[in-house]
Parts: sequence; C-alpha cells; structure tokens
Amino acid sequence: MTEKPIQLGLIGLGTVGSGVYETLCRNHALLEARCKIPFLVKKIAVSDLSKKRDTEVPAELLTDDWHDVVNDPEIDIIIELIGGTKTAYDIVTSALRAGKPVVTGNKALLAEFGSEIFKLSSEKGTPIYFEASAGGGIPIIQSLQTSLICNHIDSIVGIINGTSNYILSAMGEGGADYADALQKAQELGFAELDPTLDVNGWDAAHKALILATLAYGTTISPDKIFVQGIENITSKDFNFAKKLGYTIKLLVIIRLHKDSGKLELRVQPSFVHDWHILASVNGVFNAIAVTGDIVGETLFYGRGAGKNPTASAVISDVITAMRERLHPEYHTGFLPYAQPYGIMDINETISSYYVRFQVADQPGVIAEIAHILATFGIGISATSSAQGVSDCNGIIWNDLVFMLHACEWGQLQLALQETAQSQFVAPNPCVLRIEHLLPKA
Ligand code: HSE
Repeated sequence: MTEKPIQLGLIGLGTVGSGVYETLCRNHALLEARCKIPFLVKKIAVSDLSKKRDTEVPAELLTDDWHDVVNDPEIDIIIELIGGTKTAYDIVTSALRAGKPVVTGNKALLAEFGSEIFKLSSEKGTPIYFEASAGGGIPIIQSLQTSLICNHIDSIVGIINGTSNYILSAMGEGGADYADALQKAQELGFAELDPTLDVNGWDAAHKALILATLAYGTTISPDKIFVQGIENITSKDFNFAKKLGYTIKLLVIIRLHKDSGKLELRVQPSFVHDWHILASVNGVFNAIAVTGDIVGETLFYGRGAGKNPTASAVISDVITAMRERLHPEYHTGFLPYAQPYGIMDINETISSYYVRFQVADQPGVIAEIAHILATFGIGISATSSAQGVSDCNGIIWNDLVFMLHACEWGQLQLALQETAQSQFVAPNPCVLRIEHLLPKA
C-alpha cells in the first residue's frame, strides 16, 4: 500500500452525494483492501451549512463554497454531484484546468457540454469519469469503454430512465395514477431535481447521447436526438396494450444503419410485446441491450436510479481515478476518436405503430380513417375500440385503436394531418411506436 492517502473532495451532499459519503465510510476497509490505496474525504461542499441531514458528517469537513474544495492544494480528485449545468460546468472545468481528475454523474452537463469538456480533459491530460451518468448502478460506461472495446456497436436499445419506468410500471401493473406514481418516485429519490426531465424523455436522451458518444467515438449535439416523453400516456393506452398483448416502455434506440452509415437516435414510449425480456423490466430497474459485431447481443440489468446504486457507480470511478492518479500515463477517461456520424431524420425511421384516435360515434368514421391510411399506403393489422362518454353537445367520443403495419414516421405524420381534417376525429391522437425486438424473455 502507498503511504500518502489520496484526498477526495466531494461537491454535493444530496441523495447521491450522501450515498457516496456513507459508502466510502462504511466500506472504507474493503475498498482499501481491494485497491491498496489509502484515501480520505478531505472536504465536502454543500449549498446550505445549516440544513438538517440524515447523513452524519464531521462539521470540519463542510464548506458552503465549492471553490474551497477545487482550490485546496491537498485535494487530488473532485467528485461533482450537484446536478444542473451551470455551477457544475464551472466546477468541472475549474477542476480539469487545475489538473484534478473529475468524477461526475452529471448527464445533462455531459450531453450539453461534453464536446468542450472532453476537449479540455484531453488538452490538460486530466481525465473525467462518468459511470454514474447512465444506467444508475449498471456498469454500462466501463463496459462500453473497456469490456466491449473490440466491437463495432450495431445498436444500443433499452430502458434508461428509472423514474419513467417506475411510473409506467405502476400504471401498467396496478393501474396507478400518473401524478401519484411520479410523486412516489420523487420521494424514493429516483427523480431529477427537475422531474420534467424524467417524464419528457430528456433525462433518457442525455444518457443516450453519452452512450452513443462512447459507442461511436464522437460527441453528438442534443438537437440531433428525437425525444418524446410519457406525459400523454393514459390508463386507456395500458388497457389497449394489455388487450393486444403488449406493455408500454420508454425506449432509447441507438442503431447504426450500415447501408446509409447513419445513426438512428431517439427516445420514445413504445409498445413492447408482453413476452419480451424488456417487458419484465419494472420499477426503477433499467435494462440496456448492446449488440456488437464480435460479442453479439448483451443485456445489462440493474437499478437505474437511487442513492446506493448510483453511489456504487460513482465509487467505481473514484477507485479508477485513484489508480490512474498513481499511474497517469494510462487513463480510461474518454478521448474522441471518430468523425461525426450522419443522424437519420426521424421522418425516415420505420416501425409499426399503435394509434389511438378519439372519434365521434358516427357511421363511416372507421372507414374514413382506414381510407386515408390506405391512401398513404399504410396497412392496418388490428383494430380495437372502447366506448366513450358524451360531450356537452350529446356527441359520444369513442376510443378507436389502429395497429399499423411498418411505415416511415414521416408517412404516418402526413396521414394523421389528413385524419385531423375530419370533423369526426379529435386532433392529436396518441401515437406510439411498436418495437419488434429480439430476443424473447
Ligand atoms: N432521474 C434519473 C432516473 C436518475 O430516474 O433514471 C438516474 O440517472
């Protein structure tokens, strides 16, 4: 064991920060025995010194100014866990400029400023580690960077937001109310400070951008990813899904189309067959299927959010950072290696679809919609319906579901512009992709 302890500076003592501090204390002996490097937490920056905390921390470790941590000459490694992109940007860039390796779980920061931050890291020869930025406790970042290093990645498909999966599972299994399920996810410490990011698909999108960066060796700007959230999914959609043999999951799809050389990159709530392995990934769990040209299909599964799973990921980076601090000639922080990829226009992407219209209970309305779809060359594989209630004019609005054969997203949007012209069809039908994924459970 080396003599001088490595000194860690922690910035942020929220859900994840307190999980990291508690685990570093609780499993200190185990970690030192395994990595043979003595370490200690030297300082912790918090936003409010007077705040009551469940985690016991010696008062002398605390400061309310992050500069005290980054500028402390004795601190070797900075752990940034405050979230958000403003102050976190200043912390991460100041630490890298000062030559201090950074451990962060900040996916929004990396998705937005990754290209600049990775460049700075490379120029300064100071690594940044970000295992906790995707998949919670699942070691997906290191797997892509090291374990799967010999593979060209064909696709990465899966569930990578714990909060939305918790909500969808609660709605699908127990018929829970959307707002109640979101509140419970917040209480359990799964949701972001701003939970809109969880339900509007952007937290998953940030993670997808990071995974795509690692898989394809180049950063991708957030405006290239198509994102649809789960806010408009109702218990009606779950009822139809169940009846038709599906469940609904918020899926990330990253797929390289070899013919065009373009990347398909999107986050969308989707119908998944109820026999598919992803259909049984419930609650806060995430599952990420990575397919490589050498390894074939792999599937990573685990808790995608929460205090301890995320702390586990952060600490794996802390240990890597400590080891590489002692052997700086080699580091596993990300260095871009490829030219930017073309991104497939969402309108060109192809799948089958579930479309739930609200239609007036009038003769001929089914035929009218079917005719419009046929005009656009879109076939129907199944239909289902449920009787609705009358509006103030005495018109009954029914739910009418069409399961559609595969076509381009753009083609379907054109057809839906036409159906919206009908006085018997309510605007903004619920459109969900149907993903035919392999393998079976
Ligand atoms: N809010 C995130 C989620 C936390 O629910 O997945 C983990 O990144």
